[in-house]
Amino acid sequence: MIPATEQYISTGEWTARHAGETFDLGQQIGTQLRGGEILLLDGPLGAGKTIFVKGVAAGLDVDADEVTSPSFTLVNPYQGRLPLFHIDLYRLDAGAPAAHAVDLEELLTNEEAVVVIEWAERLGKYPLPPCVWHVKIQGDGDAARSITISR
Ligand SMILES: Nc1ncnc2c1ncn2[C@@H]1O[C@H](COP(=O)(O)OP(=O)(O)OP(=O)(O)O)[C@@H](O)[C@H]1O
Ligand SMILES: [Mg+2]
Repeated sequence: MIPATEQYISTGEWTARHAGETFDLGQQIGTQLRGGEILLLDGPLGAGKTIFVKGVAAGLDVDADEVTSPSFTLVNPYQGRLPLFHIDLYRLDAGAPAAHAVDLEELLTNEEAVVVIEWAERLGKYPLPPCVWHVKIQGDGDAARSITISR
């Protein structure tokens, strides 16, 4: 288990002027992951959450072209140098039902796995383990994105 206080993932604020820069930041973060992390993605429709996750996948040696939005499937599993679970809670009601719908508790028992969650605010107060990072993407359309990564 990784100590909850250790800062081995870049935190701060970035500007992404186009989708490729959002991907690149995701990839940079992906290479820093050690397993057991949860990334909570927050940002409006079309912000670039899925593009960021494609980058994370690439940083975990998963083929980014295989990564598609789990809007309907809810959870997409990938195997790179670590297992990656890509979750999208957009279609679910807030709170514990969302967590149960994707069987989050079961996914979190895999200490090697990286869990990335779009529309993470739908989890409400669902209790999460300590290795959580927040990725907030602001902006949409053709505008530049502001991406903030924090513990
Ligand atoms: N700087 C940028 N970063 C990310 N995406 C950008 C940027 N500029 C334009 N885009 C475009 O915005 C769209 C982002 O789509 P994406 O599916 O990643 O968003 P999302 O946040 O996952 O949306 P949803 O809430 O529907 O899941 C893409 O069409 C992408 O090309
Ligand atoms: Mg998405």
